[in-house]
Amino acid sequence: MVLSVAAGLSSCVITPDKMEQAPIDPKRAEAFAAKDSNGHAIQLYTLRNKNGMTVELSNYGATIVSINVPDKNGKVENVTLGYDDHAGLASGTSYFGCVVGRYGNRIAKGTFNIDGVEYHAPLNNGLNTLHGGINSIDKQVWKARVMNDAIAFSITIPDDQNGYPGNLKLKVVYSLREDNSLAIDYTASTDKSTVINVTNHAYFNLSGDPSRKNLDHELMINADRFTPVDSTLIPTGELRPVKGTPFDFTIAKAIGKDIEADDEQLKFGGGYDHNFVLNTNSKNVPAVVVKEKSSGRMMEVFTTEPGVQFYTGNFLNGVEKGRGVAYQHRTGFCLETQHFPDSPNQPAFPTTLLKPGETFKSQTIYKFGLIAE
Ligand code: GLA
Repeated sequence: MVLSVAAGLSSCVITPDKMEQAPIDPKRAEAFAAKDSNGHAIQLYTLRNKNGMTVELSNYGATIVSINVPDKNGKVENVTLGYDDHAGLASGTSYFGCVVGRYGNRIAKGTFNIDGVEYHAPLNNGLNTLHGGINSIDKQVWKARVMNDAIAFSITIPDDQNGYPGNLKLKVVYSLREDNSLAIDYTASTDKSTVINVTNHAYFNLSGDPSRKNLDHELMINADRFTPVDSTLIPTGELRPVKGTPFDFTIAKAIGKDIEADDEQLKFGGGYDHNFVLNTNSKNVPAVVVKEKSSGRMMEVFTTEPGVQFYTGNFLNGVEKGRGVAYQHRTGFCLETQHFPDSPNQPAFPTTLLKPGETFKSQTIYKFGLIAE
C-alpha cells in the first residue's frame, strides 16, 4: 500500500482501508519535499506491507530513499545507505538508491555508433561516460502515480539530451509485496534507435548499521563468468571464468574473504566493481543471495537482466553523510542488475539497442527474509 504525504500541503493520500496503519513521519516527508527550478514538486512516497516493511521513495531520480526490514528479533531497520533530506539527494555524487540511465554503467570515451552515425555523451568518469553523464535522470524530477501497492515513476528523456538519440519514454514501477519483496519493473520506448541500460543503484548494508563495513556479508552470485576490465573499468570483451579467481562467488563466501587478494582486476576496481555474467534469468532461481548473520537478515535478487554489477563501495570515503554517519569505505555494496558495461561498443555482448516500435522491459526483485536457523 502507498501512503503519500506532501509536506507543507494539507493534501495527503492514504488509502482508506489502511488508515489503521501508522502514519508516515511528517518530519521525514517535510525533509524530502522540495521544488525543482521549474517548480515541479518533489516528495516522499512510502510503500508499506503488513509485516511492517516499508520502502521510502522520492520522485527525484526515482530514488529508493530507504528500505526498512525486520531483523531476526523483529526490529525494523534501514538496510540501505541514504540521505536525511532532499538536499542530500540533490548534491549526492554516489548514486544512492537512484535509477541510473539512459545508459547506466560505462560507455568507453562516451562514444558509440548506431546505423553509421557516431554519438558522443559527456565524459564524467575520466575518459568515459558513467551512468548517462552529468545531470542525467538521477538528478531530475519524475512524474509519480500512486497505485494501491506500488508507485510508478515516469520520465521522457528528450532526444539529444547528453548526446543520446531519441525521445525515450521510461517508466519505473516499484511494488512492495506481502512476501517482503520489492519488485522494480522498467518499461521504455523510443522514437529513434537508441541505447538503453537502466538499473537501480541502491547500496545495501543488511546489518542495519551503516557504520559497519560490508565485508562480513556472505554473498553468492550465480555467475560462472565475469567481464574483466581495463584500468578505466571498461570491459576488455572477454567473458572470463570465475573459477580459481577472487571472483568466484558461486559458493557463498564473505565479501571480504578475497577482496585484498593480489589480483589485477581487484586493483583496477579498488575492490569489486565488476559485471558478472548471470547463469540465470529465472523468477524462481536467485541470481544473488546475501546473508548477514548478526541481524539474521538475508536478501535474494531475481532479475531478467543478463548481468549484475557488484560494487563494494570502494569510492565511499566519508564525504557522503546521512543516518547520523559519514559513509566510510565499503560500508555499502551495490547489486546493479544490468546489461554489460560498454555494450554499444561490444558486438559480442547482449544488445542494448532499442528501436522505434519496440518495448524495452526489465524486472528485478529484491526479496528480504531471515536466514534459516
Ligand atoms: C558504479 C560504478 C562504480 C562507481 C559507482 C558510483 O557502481 O561501477 O565504479 O562509479 O557506480 O560511485
